[in-house]
Amino acid sequence: MPKKISNIVILTGAGISAESGIQTFRASDGLWHDHHIEDVATPEGFAANPSLVQSFYNERRRQLKDPSIKPNPAHLALARLEQEWQGNLLLVTQNVDNLHERAGSKNLIHMHGQLDQIRCSESGAVYHWEEDVEATHACSCCEKLGTLRPNIVWFGEMPFLMDTINESLVNCDLFISIGTSGKVYPAAGYVEYAKSIGAQTVELNLDPTDSSSVFDLSINGKAGTILPAFVDVLLKTGAIPQNNSF
Ligand code: OAD
Repeated sequence: MPKKISNIVILTGAGISAESGIQTFRASDGLWHDHHIEDVATPEGFAANPSLVQSFYNERRRQLKDPSIKPNPAHLALARLEQEWQGNLLLVTQNVDNLHERAGSKNLIHMHGQLDQIRCSESGAVYHWEEDVEATHACSCCEKLGTLRPNIVWFGEMPFLMDTINESLVNCDLFISIGTSGKVYPAAGYVEYAKSIGAQTVELNLDPTDSSSVFDLSINGKAGTILPAFVDVLLKTGAIPQNNSF
């Protein structure tokens, strides 16, 4: 008999925002198909060509203001789960879009940063930012040109709020992974850790992933369809479904 579920940790990836019209990374039409990671998602790439990197993130930041880009039923289901769940729930997203917060999620960590923030690379100060970042923008704290960078975690950098995430993982009874290929660590290792401490583990993803066999339950389909149904079961019964055809 599995332990009663009280503490939930949820990890989301690009797949949860796909039905909102935001490209994933590793699909054949994904961002990493048309861009080299080392050019646009590393500190070395930024040092070599800051304007290329700023324009890559400017374009994606601009997309968030497009009225057609909005939270889909999967984002809304997670906000509803947080609101109605009687125990603790932490939502950890690898996504840099703002769709979880726009859906109403509150206890949320953006472990890979946020498109709507920029950071001064000298002082570390973080600013809310919705416009393009231009080479002519001086930072308001150091008043220098060229110190503002996207507040995005690049390859080779440490994800944000790791201690807080780890504290929740240590105590979790249920770990749910949604719309992530499980290719990028440390997030990709959370399922193994959750299992090692006896948590139940569930994956919801369009296709099977390399980690599917590690999860207790792996459900395939579009997040916008399967997640609201999964949340219904969890809220109604306090338990995960018995199988993936619920
Ligand atoms: P990926 O593009 O690697 O994986 C997205 C996953 O979502 C795939 O397994 C798809 O099958 C699945 N998917 C697509 N559409 C879906 C839908 N409608 N419903 C459910 N699942 C769907 O994206 P991530 O795993 O998020 O990091 O990538 C992880 C990290 O790699 C990103 O945060 C980013 C990237 O490089 C940094 O830039 C640091």
